[in-house]
Amino acid sequence: MLPPLLLQLATVVGVYSICCWLYDNLRTPLLLLFRGATQLFGGGQNSLPKKYGPWAVITGSSDGIGKGYANYLASQGIKVMLIARNEAKLKRVAEEIVAKHGTETKILVADFSQGEHIYEKLERELSSLDIGILVNNVGVINEKPIQLDRMEKRLLWDLININVGAATLLCNIALPAMKKRKRGLIINISSLSSLAPTPYLAVYAASKAYMTSFSLALREEVTPYGIECQTVSPGYVHTSMTEYLHPTDGKKNTFSVRLVKVSNMIRYAGYCIAKVDQTTGHWSHGIQTAILNLLPGSLKLRVFTRLYTQLLHEYSDTDKKLA
Ligand SMILES: NC(=O)c1ccc[n+]([C@@H]2O[C@H](COP(=O)([O-])OP(=O)(O)OC[C@H]3O[C@@H](n4cnc5c(N)ncnc54)[C@H](OP(=O)(O)O)[C@@H]3O)[C@@H](O)[C@H]2O)c1
Repeated sequence: MLPPLLLQLATVVGVYSICCWLYDNLRTPLLLLFRGATQLFGGGQNSLPKKYGPWAVITGSSDGIGKGYANYLASQGIKVMLIARNEAKLKRVAEEIVAKHGTETKILVADFSQGEHIYEKLERELSSLDIGILVNNVGVINEKPIQLDRMEKRLLWDLININVGAATLLCNIALPAMKKRKRGLIINISSLSSLAPTPYLAVYAASKAYMTSFSLALREEVTPYGIECQTVSPGYVHTSMTEYLHPTDGKKNTFSVRLVKVSNMIRYAGYCIAKVDQTTGHWSHGIQTAILNLLPGSLKLRVFTRLYTQLLHEYSDTDKKLA
């Protein structure tokens, strides 16, 4: 039997922990319900172009989640500037968007792996646009889980330059005009893997932990200027980044069943725009995050270590460098 004082202390700590968990994990869904209902019954909301401005800039928008955001924003009447490396792919996506949504589009070819010197040109090109929304989506990952010492040095620099550098520098470029206009929205795409250090995806997960920390801090900096900053931390989404998890024989496995389609993610993530400052981008990833958040940091690390050790054995070719 515990002495009564210890029992009281354990109860207080237990109740406090439950309250913290509930606050962290129910804040977004409750806000979403509340703001959704307010919009529905309270006369709707300003359209996105009216609220934030006419143009959206989306990095890494020729494919996957970025392309999904570009389509969603165009469907809301926002003109979109698409940025990626492959000009032909960008032109194709821009034409698709014009045909589907009738909105103006522009493309900008840029390779974020090239480091600091590309930003001068980007700043010049972007200065002529009234940017209402900036979606910092571009990101790369090692093709499959792999040990750090087996990765190519080039890929290690790319992970840092692209996943960390691009969002940081683009916010620096876009913010002065947003502050002057006292409006704007920055959407930073992080990942569920920012929740805990992830062995065999160590640099990718660390880059996403940077994104979350950066985005949450930036939100506090820009709120006084009337600018919003949203952090999106999805779990597995079926894009070229996660293609290796998808068996080619069409059969499902433990990992492929967790892949959410881009269209489903974007439907949910789009609904979250202008309503919440943090989201996983899909309700099922919200549940996964809430379950993981029940664990203390050290146990989360154990779970991620187990999961990614399994992936390492299942998918990595141990005989050659994979990256
Ligand atoms: N898929 C997931 O399960 C998942 C989960 C959580 C978070 N995320 C995050 O979501 C974001 C998008 O991921 P995704 O899965 O949609 O990726 P994706 O399908 O591989 O698309 C990546 C996009 O980025 C562009 N890109 C790649 N390298 C580039 C570079 N050096 N310079 C400029 N553009 C470049 C690609 O176009 P080009 O090749 O033509 O340049 C493409 O448009 C990333 O930040 C990722 O970390 C993804």
